[in-house]
Amino acid sequence: MSQLIEGRLIAEKVYAELRGEIAELKKRGRTPGLAVVLVGDNPASRAYVRAKDKMCRDLGLHSVKLELPAETTQAELLARVEELNRDAAIHGILVQSPPPKHIDEAAIVRALDPAKDVDGFHPMNVAKLALGDESGFVPCTPLGCQRLLVESGIEISGAHVVVLGRSMIVGKPLALLLMRKGRGSDATVTVVHSRSQRLADITRSADILIAAIGQPQFVRAEHVRDGAVVIDVGINRVDDATTERGYRLVGDVAFDEVSEKVSAITPVPGGVGPMTIAMLMSNTVKACRQR
Ligand code: GUN
Repeated sequence: MSQLIEGRLIAEKVYAELRGEIAELKKRGRTPGLAVVLVGDNPASRAYVRAKDKMCRDLGLHSVKLELPAETTQAELLARVEELNRDAAIHGILVQSPPPKHIDEAAIVRALDPAKDVDGFHPMNVAKLALGDESGFVPCTPLGCQRLLVESGIEISGAHVVVLGRSMIVGKPLALLLMRKGRGSDATVTVVHSRSQRLADITRSADILIAAIGQPQFVRAEHVRDGAVVIDVGINRVDDATTERGYRLVGDVAFDEVSEKVSAITPVPGGVGPMTIAMLMSNTVKACRQR
């Protein structure tokens, strides 16, 4: 029987620590503030933004939720970002991805004050991650994956970690994070993606396999070796007429068959997802502390 890595429980531990830090900051008259900007009405994005806002309130953070219509222009969005950059009550800004097609997302990210970029997407923060400069912000999902492993007592140092996926939100920063020097890192990292040859040969050599390819149940039993650790970053909606909402959530891993073979695995939902929000809160507190 494999160990279930329960993100919900580990996120609770993170929140307990954060509550202490937030209380300390408040004693000194400082309340961390997060602004979350949503353009358009993508249902999944709307659900994420609601969850982030709710968690801020739960922790007693200052939360601003900006919901802008899908027709918002690039110039209007830039103007809102610049207002938030100047707002002293706001320490972190997140623009929910993906925005509508007419928005140049990279230009919006470059317009963020890097000191408020709690997503860690600004080129300055990407560079700091690559350089090992800990004053920067690391993207929340990679941070959450690392924390899950550390809190579960899984040795990362010296392990062969195979990251499946090369996005700027997960795969690429995760590879940089885990190959860094220091606690919770020092891994031997291989990145594979949709164009990789002999993909299953490579994933089978992983001590830790992290699936972030965005394809429902892509990872099958043949992709993992006995006793490996599997972290499933995927959150995919698949049609299911038997549920009330008409869909259910599945990861990038075929959980039933893979969990039979591995020593530890994250569930979906309840694995990486809760950790991503916890790390966003953690980055927001860090942004406040560093100011
Ligand atoms: N969309 C999916 N994941 C993320 C994330 O971590 N940050 C932002 N801004 N948008 C996302």
